[in-house]
Amino acid sequence: MCGIVGYVGTENAVDIIISSLKKLEYRGYDSAGITVLNQKLETYKTVGKIADLEKIIPANFTGHIGIGHTRWATHGKPETRNAHPHLSSNIAVVHNGIIENYMKLKEKLISQGYEFLSDTDTEVIAHLLHSTIKNNTQFSLLDAVRHVMNEMEGSYAIAVLYTAEPDHIVLARKDSPLVIGLGNNGFFAASDVTAFLRYTKNAVYVNDKELVLISPTGVEFYNNDGQQIEKKVDIIEWDEEAAEKAGYEHFMLKEIHEQSASIQDTYAGKISELEGRVILDELKMSDDQLKNLQRITIIACGTSWNAGCVGKYLFESLAGIHTDIETASEFRYGDPVLCGQVFTLAITQSGETADTLAAIRSSKAYGCKAAAITNVVGSSITRETDSVLFTRAGPEIGVAATKTFTAQLIILYLMAIHMGTVRGRLTPENARDILVGIKQLPGQVQKVLNNKNIIKECAEHYAKVQDYFFIGRHVNYPVSLEGALKLKEISYIHAEGYAAGELKHGPLALISSETPVVAIATKGHTYEKVLSNIKEVKARGAEVIAIANQSDTEINKYVDMVLRIPDCHELLSPVLSSVVLQLLAYYTAYARGCSIDKPRNLAKSVTVE
Ligand code: M6R
Repeated sequence: MCGIVGYVGTENAVDIIISSLKKLEYRGYDSAGITVLNQKLETYKTVGKIADLEKIIPANFTGHIGIGHTRWATHGKPETRNAHPHLSSNIAVVHNGIIENYMKLKEKLISQGYEFLSDTDTEVIAHLLHSTIKNNTQFSLLDAVRHVMNEMEGSYAIAVLYTAEPDHIVLARKDSPLVIGLGNNGFFAASDVTAFLRYTKNAVYVNDKELVLISPTGVEFYNNDGQQIEKKVDIIEWDEEAAEKAGYEHFMLKEIHEQSASIQDTYAGKISELEGRVILDELKMSDDQLKNLQRITIIACGTSWNAGCVGKYLFESLAGIHTDIETASEFRYGDPVLCGQVFTLAITQSGETADTLAAIRSSKAYGCKAAAITNVVGSSITRETDSVLFTRAGPEIGVAATKTFTAQLIILYLMAIHMGTVRGRLTPENARDILVGIKQLPGQVQKVLNNKNIIKECAEHYAKVQDYFFIGRHVNYPVSLEGALKLKEISYIHAEGYAAGELKHGPLALISSETPVVAIATKGHTYEKVLSNIKEVKARGAEVIAIANQSDTEINKYVDMVLRIPDCHELLSPVLSSVVLQLLAYYTAYARGCSIDKPRNLAKSVTVE
C-alpha cells in the first residue's frame, strides 16, 4: 500500500523523510521517491527499496522542506517513471489512493498540451494543479488543491510542493488516511503515525475533504469551503511496533478491519450504477468474444481456489457460462480437455504461486485465452496471461488470506455481471440490483466488524474443541470451505467444510456433541434446505452456530448461537459471511495462543511445488 510523508522545519528534511519512509516499509511497496524544495524541486526515485533510493541520493542533497513516497503499484508497473513524486513543471505531488476518473482528466489535460511521463493516475493531479494555477493566476496552492479536489473522483491523500510558495506543503485527503505530526523542530505529514513516531507523539488526524498547510511556524487546517478549522491534538501512546499494525495486535486483525476500504478500492471506477453495467476494459475481451465463450476454467490454490469456487456459481447463474474450477497442482499434471473456446482464469493474490503459474502455462499451450485476478502489480502471473484484473486490497502481511479473498470475490462479481449483461442473460435492471448491493458492502462489512464481540465470545466458548464442521449450500458451500481453511490454518483445530447436502453421504458419522457445526444459513433459494441440514446435525447432538441475516427471526429456534450479517442480495452474502468466519478463526486462534500472523509450516507466497 502506498505511503506518503512530508516534513517542513529546521532539521534536514532528507534524513527525516528517508527515516520516515523506512518506517512505512511494512506496508509493502515496490518503488520509492523523494522531492526536496530548495528554490527548485530536486527529485530522486527508484524501483526497489528505500536502501536503493539512498544509494542514488547525492551526499550534498539536503533541505528543510520535502515530500516522500513508497509506491505499491496500482496504475502502471513498478518502474522508476511510475514512482512518486510526480511533477508538473514547478509542482510536485505524492499520492496515496486511486483517482477513479483519471482517464477522463488525462484526456482533457493531453488536449491542453500536457505530456505524461508515467502510467499513473497521480501524474494527473500534478498537471491538473498546474493547469488550475495557470488559468487562475490569483489562486494560491491551497486554492488550487481545493479546486482540484472537486474535479477528482476516488480516494486520495496528497502532499504538494510548489516552488512559488517555497515555505509550505499543502495536503488534502478523501477516503485515504492522512495524519499530521506536531514536533518541536518542525511538522510532519504521513499516511500513518508510524512514520513520525520517533520525532513526535502529538498527532492530528485529518478528516475527509479537509486540507492542511504545514510550514516551519505552524499548521493550518481548512474545510472544503476554504474556512480555517480547529482540530484536536491526539497523544499517541503506541510504540512503533504497535503503530505498524495501527494498534491491532496482529496484521491479520488489521487486514480483516481494512476490508470495507479494500472492497471499495477494488470496485472503484468499475461500476456504472446508473446504466446498470460494469466497466471492465482490463478484461480485453470484445462483446463478440464474450458472446461466443463456451467454457471458463478457473485455476487456483487454497483460499483463491475457494474464491474461484464462488466464481463458478456466479458465472453459471449470472452469465450462463459452464465453469470448471481446478486445483492448480492437479490440473498441471492432468490431461485437461481444453480448446481455443475455453477461457482460463487464474486467481492468485500473490501472483507467484508456482502451481498456478505452471497450470496457466499449460492451459495456454492448448491455445486458451488466459486472464488473471491478482493483487500484485508486476507479479509473474501478469506476464503469463493475456489480461489482468487487479484486486486493490493493498499488501497482505498475515499469512492467512483475508482482505485479498473478499477483493477476489468483488472482481468475480464484476466479471460475471459484465459477461451476463453482454450475453443478454442479465437485464440492466437485474445487473443494477446486484451493483447497488455491491456498493452497500463496505458499510455492511463495517456493521459486521462493529459486532465482533459476539463472534469473539462464540470463538472463546468453542476454543477447546478438537473438530469443527462448516456447512453451506450454493455460494455458501465454498464459504464453508474457506471458513474451515481459515480455522485450521491459524488455530490448528481440525475443521471440515462440506456442502450441507453431502453430510449424510459419510461425514454425518462424525457428528456428535463434540463437533460444533457452523451452518451458513443466509436467506436465499437454499435456505429451507439448510434448515433441514441443521436439524439433521442437531439430531446427532451437535451444537450449531448459524450465520444468518439480520432480519431472520426464525433461525433462533433451531440453533445454539446466531452470528448476524446485514440483509443483502443472496449472491453477495459470501463477502459478509466470510468476514464473520475470519473473525471466528482469529479469535479462536487467539484464545488458543497460536502464532496468528505466521502459522506453523506455512508461507505467505508458495513459490515452490
Ligand atoms: O497467492 P495465492 O492466492 O496464489 O496463494 C494460494 C494459497 O497458497 C493461499 O490462498 C493460502 O491458501 C492462504 N494463505 C490461505 O489463507
